[in-house]
Amino acid sequence: MKIRVTDRDGTSHAVEGQAGLKLMEVLRELDYGVEALCGGMCSCATCHVYVDTDWIDGLAPPEDDEDDLLDSLEGRHTNSRLSCQILLGEEHDGLTVTIAPEE
Ligand code: FES
Repeated sequence: MKIRVTDRDGTSHAVEGQAGLKLMEVLRELDYGVEALCGGMCSCATCHVYVDTDWIDGLAPPEDDEDDLLDSLEGRHTNSRLSCQILLGEEHDGLTVTIAPEE
């Protein structure tokens, strides 16, 4: 499955994803990806991404802890998600995200 990732410089990349991994686990392997400092514990917000508006409604909505952490970010948009809280499945082939700015 492919994921399309726009980095902080605005360059778009086609990235190989894998069903069963968290989106964060794919993004942290990239030079232009996310830091994911807490390792997916939903406590650092360094895995923040903007999900393409065509995709955002198709994802399982954020749990309260993700929503609270997103609220602490200045750069939160309506399509903000923490990539460690998105479990990839084959239905996500073509998922398109943008790496959010560092905070
Ligand atoms: S990796 Fe820390 S909140 Fe997602």
